[in-house]
Amino acid sequence: MEYKTLNNGVEMPMLGIGVYNITRRDTQRVVEQAIEVGYTSIDTAAMYYNEREVGDAVRATGVPRDHLFVTTKICDPCYTRDETLRSVEQSMKQLRLDYVDLMLLHWPVGKPAVMWQALEELYSQGLFRAIGVSNFYPNTFPAIVNGGKVMPVVNQCETHVLYQQCKMIDYLQPYNVALEAWSPLAEGGHGIFNENTLTSIGAQYGKTAAQVALKFLVQRGIIAIPKTTHVERMRENIDLFDFILSDNDMAAIACLDTGHNVTGWPLDALCYTPNQN
Ligand SMILES: NC(=O)c1ccc[n+]([C@@H]2O[C@H](COP(=O)([O-])OP(=O)(O)OC[C@H]3O[C@@H](n4cnc5c(N)ncnc54)[C@H](OP(=O)(O)O)[C@@H]3O)[C@@H](O)[C@H]2O)c1
Repeated sequence: MEYKTLNNGVEMPMLGIGVYNITRRDTQRVVEQAIEVGYTSIDTAAMYYNEREVGDAVRATGVPRDHLFVTTKICDPCYTRDETLRSVEQSMKQLRLDYVDLMLLHWPVGKPAVMWQALEELYSQGLFRAIGVSNFYPNTFPAIVNGGKVMPVVNQCETHVLYQQCKMIDYLQPYNVALEAWSPLAEGGHGIFNENTLTSIGAQYGKTAAQVALKFLVQRGIIAIPKTTHVERMRENIDLFDFILSDNDMAAIACLDTGHNVTGWPLDALCYTPNQN
């Protein structure tokens, strides 16, 4: 496993498992299997309704808590400090963990600056090892930077070979905020697993299109959290750290970028003004 040193010094695994759309019934099994396979980072959220099962899996595994990295996100639109604290309390009650490694604002709703200040308060008390945001684009990110004292460690956004987020990477770079890729396999759609460039590059290294697609992100310094409920795919998706894509490979994959989101979550719509293009 490779790690990213976040801007507060915390080390975050470059690859984790996402548990969006995994039923409560399956989540504990999936997370326990992922941990057995070697994953140490798990990405959940209040709106996935499976924080409880993530917490159960973390406690059930024999792996020490400080070897694991748990991310969750609050999604309620909060307008006050107290509303935000209540939202966090709900997540902590579900997880039943002493602390969360990374707490994110799931998207820019409510009063993001007020919500951020509440997260800062809990971060300073040690409830979270790091705090960050998700789906904040240049129309909403400045509210966090201007309204707070602590810089987010990550911005988690839709990112994959079909939407490579080149503008976002440039945008975040001066803030030293890491980009974390959600739907790093484009939700498993859009023909990504049969895409010619990915499969032919993979053939050179004995790797699948999924492994090449994920490696492309990790090699650009982007943290990725692919979701799968299948243990063989968990093994496949994490088996990325024994090969390096050449400059030519990286350039060929860069050509797959469509420059726009493909998952139907238009969170980036109209966020870049023309002079930022
Ligand atoms: N912050 C946000 O707003 C936000 C939004 C969306 C997602 N996320 C996070 O990002 C995580 C990942 O995103 P995602 O779940 O939307 O999509 P994804 O990871 O891009 O793709 C998951 C899909 O690909 C399939 N798959 C995974 N590995 C595969 C492989 N090696 N070969 C073939 N198929 C494979 C999975 O099927 P099986 O499960 O059947 O194997 C599933 O259908 C989520 O779980 C969540 O934690 C965050």
